[in-house]
Amino acid sequence: MTRLVVLVSGNGSNLQAILDACTAGEIQAQVVAVFSDRPDAFGLERARRSDIAAIALAKCETQDRPGYDTELADKVAAFDPDWIVLAGWMRLLSAKFLDRFPGRVVNLHPALPGTFPGTHAIERALDAYQHGEVAHTGVMVHLVPDDGVDSGPVLAQEVVSIQPSDTLATLQSRVHATEHRVLVHTLTKLCTL
Ligand code: GRF
Repeated sequence: MTRLVVLVSGNGSNLQAILDACTAGEIQAQVVAVFSDRPDAFGLERARRSDIAAIALAKCETQDRPGYDTELADKVAAFDPDWIVLAGWMRLLSAKFLDRFPGRVVNLHPALPGTFPGTHAIERALDAYQHGEVAHTGVMVHLVPDDGVDSGPVLAQEVVSIQPSDTLATLQSRVHATEHRVLVHTLTKLCTL
């Protein structure tokens, strides 16, 4: 069975979508561990409730980025993953991590390729829409070959409409619903390779 390790930093609704799809047999894989850089991330609680290893690994102040990424890579490698899924993981990973898992790290971003890289992408898209700069936004799933911000070979993308009546909350829920579906669909294909 294909082995997935999922990295989260927050609520974990995308992690939950993966867990539910694995349980339903839609994704032919098992999540063998969930890591978070934030010990209070609800995503870890979701893992515990599914009896999956839930590991908090906060970066301590004295640790530099290569040191943290190497420690994280060692701990992730111990679960022998086929794929590493960044599902709401909010740290940039350096080559110290990525070079250990070449071609096997997948990230989710709540915007279309090349648009709104980094944090607060949904807010920024709504603001740009309200200034007439964009007509829609979207979501994407991509490979992570290097420490570029939300960039890399695109595996899937989907446009998400923005309505004049949209608030941040209504747009967020539409974007997240699309993310859950696109991420599960992409992993379903990856896990049959
Ligand atoms: C998602 O929108 C993801 O694309 C972004 O952070 C959010 C995490 O949501 N990087 P959740 O924790 O999976 O609910």
